[in-house]
Amino acid sequence: MELTGPGLLLRPWRDADAAAVLEALRDPAIMQWNPQGDVNDLEAARRWVRRRADWSGSHVSLAVVDPAAPETLSGSVSLNRIQDGDASIGYWTLPAARGRGLASAAVARLTAWAFAELGLYRIELCHAVLNAASCRVAQRTGYLVEGTLRQSFRYGDGRRYDEHLHARLATD
Ligand SMILES: CC(C)(COP(=O)(O)OP(=O)(O)OC[C@H]1O[C@@H](n2cnc3c(N)ncnc32)[C@H](O)[C@@H]1OP(=O)(O)O)[C@@H](O)C(=O)NCCC(=O)NCCS
Repeated sequence: MELTGPGLLLRPWRDADAAAVLEALRDPAIMQWNPQGDVNDLEAARRWVRRRADWSGSHVSLAVVDPAAPETLSGSVSLNRIQDGDASIGYWTLPAARGRGLASAAVARLTAWAFAELGLYRIELCHAVLNAASCRVAQRTGYLVEGTLRQSFRYGDGRRYDEHLHARLATD
């Protein structure tokens, strides 16, 4: 399954993405705001990629790439905890790809697909209040802020942070 948009391709994960994933998961911002556990070598990165390529669980995960260079990884977008019409969305982009609207385009595209094709009704998006760039992605993609969750998630540095809960409904 591939999803496209202007300057955007969301495609399934491939083993060949492992090296780029290893690099991405060593980025300080991703380590802090999108901690992925211990992915310290190529073999662990390959397992990470294969878990995301396997949609037999309750998630849908796609690699974010430039359609003109589909081998080169730019980011990740995924729907997690898909159950009974609900899901949560997560994303990151590599430093070189940031600031071009890519995360927003990927979130918007996967969200539209999930409402239309998966029949989801509500998708939640959580980010640390301090993560202003992620808040902009939520705002740009129509995820309305519903409140602040106090000390609700332990991020990469091991500390709990307040989070904004945003959500979109199929009827928004
Ligand atoms: C958050 C992240 C996914 C954004 O990716 P991106 O491809 O740059 O996103 P976009 O270009 O679509 O939008 C980024 C927005 O944040 C803004 N932004 C970037 N850095 C910012 C900062 N330090 N403070 C405030 N806003 C910031 C940009 O200006 C842009 O908003 P605009 O379009 O209104 O100008 C990326 O920075 C990232 O991967 N961060 C680390 C992991 C992470 O935070 N994941 C999300 C966890 S909830």
